[in-house]
Amino acid sequence: MKRRIGVAVLGLGWMGQAHSRSARRIPGHFPDRSYDPRLVVCADPVADRRRSALEDFGFERAVEDWRSAVEDPEVDAVWVTAPNMLHLEMIEAAAAAGKAIFSEKPIGGKPEHAVTALGHARAAGVATGVGYCYLWSPLVLHARDLIASGALGEITHYRGRFLSMYGSDPLGLLTWRFFVDQAGYGVTSDILSHSVAMARFLVGPVTEVVGMANTTIPRRPLPTGAASHYGLGAPDDPTGEVENEDFASMLCRFENGATGTFEVSRTVVGPESQNAFEVYGTKGSLIWNHERLNELQYYSVTDSPDSGYTTVYGGERFPFHGAFVPGKANSIGFEDLVTIQDHAFLEALATGTPFSPGFSEAVDVVSVQQALIDSWTSRGWQSVRDLTEVTP
Ligand SMILES: NC(=O)c1ccc[n+]([C@@H]2O[C@H](COP(=O)([O-])OP(=O)(O)OC[C@H]3O[C@@H](n4cnc5c(N)ncnc54)[C@H](O)[C@@H]3O)[C@@H](O)[C@H]2O)c1
Repeated sequence: MKRRIGVAVLGLGWMGQAHSRSARRIPGHFPDRSYDPRLVVCADPVADRRRSALEDFGFERAVEDWRSAVEDPEVDAVWVTAPNMLHLEMIEAAAAAGKAIFSEKPIGGKPEHAVTALGHARAAGVATGVGYCYLWSPLVLHARDLIASGALGEITHYRGRFLSMYGSDPLGLLTWRFFVDQAGYGVTSDILSHSVAMARFLVGPVTEVVGMANTTIPRRPLPTGAASHYGLGAPDDPTGEVENEDFASMLCRFENGATGTFEVSRTVVGPESQNAFEVYGTKGSLIWNHERLNELQYYSVTDSPDSGYTTVYGGERFPFHGAFVPGKANSIGFEDLVTIQDHAFLEALATGTPFSPGFSEAVDVVSVQQALIDSWTSRGWQSVRDLTEVTP
């Protein structure tokens, strides 16, 4: 008998829709699951999105006020998919109502919000998950296993980057991501969070950092109505000021002694969604780039010293891939990663087993972000203070 898990989705934009589609697709991909997701209620202030939630996604209810969705007695788990600065109050209310919480990254817009959110979840004793969806890529899971098996030897260096073009056009709209009161920080909250989560997952904790930030496009056209962050304005549109960073870079040291470099940008031209890493060890190295998520480049000192990197294609031999398509080198995509992630979270809820990454791992990530932010003003190296220890 499968357990019915009632789901609420707060915010039906890009990621709210992606998680809603996941809930609908999960039964077809994971027939051996222990639960059945039920799309109980969605909350969004935009009437068209509420209509679509009912008609296209099959939600039972769609409401304007997210609090009534959180308090709905038929809801067991709440997905937080609204702009960053709404995360914390949604999480606080969901924890108070005793609901399991899956929040999109970065959990609030500033490091202290993730710390407070972890405190609320701990106090209420509710299960948590965070949307670092790229960690669920079958080839990233394989990379993690290869590194853990010692196949790369001792890890000496890590390069992480997330270079995106979503803000590269100066006519790109001034959406919530560019405002401090809606997004918090800029790329360090938005996409460095993914890069640091990935590095932590593969190589372990970061202990010290130094870095810089820059805002490269200071003004953008103001949107009218609900706008996607890929939308464009017109040259004569009124403009407003970008309030947070477009670019950040960071040097770091890991606890295991490895060095690291990170670069993130939303305004470069060329890389379209390049969430990528290179991991170097004494016996081999790995290269992965989300733009080619079904390929992993592997160099082994013992197996391929003369042939250079070998391309490993995704396939059912790697974790979760076979749930979507059989055989080898038949590709999966971004929303499949979201579906794997949501299935893993719901399965953990249904079986009462721990899930990672949750809010505690998100606080590990913002601990690094806080040290980076501190280095902007100190203009020197900063030790990473473990903020899970100061969580109330
Ligand atoms: N994991 C990933 O790869 C990934 C990708 C994109 C976004 N995100 C995260 O997802 C979150 C949402 O980003 P997005 O790109 O989907 O944004 P979006 O702008 O596409 O969608 C946000 C939605 O929230 C709604 N909203 C605004 N105020 C609300 C309120 N008071 N109550 C309920 N809904 C409200 C908006 O109307 C909109 O539909 C962010 O925290 C972002 O960091 C994660």
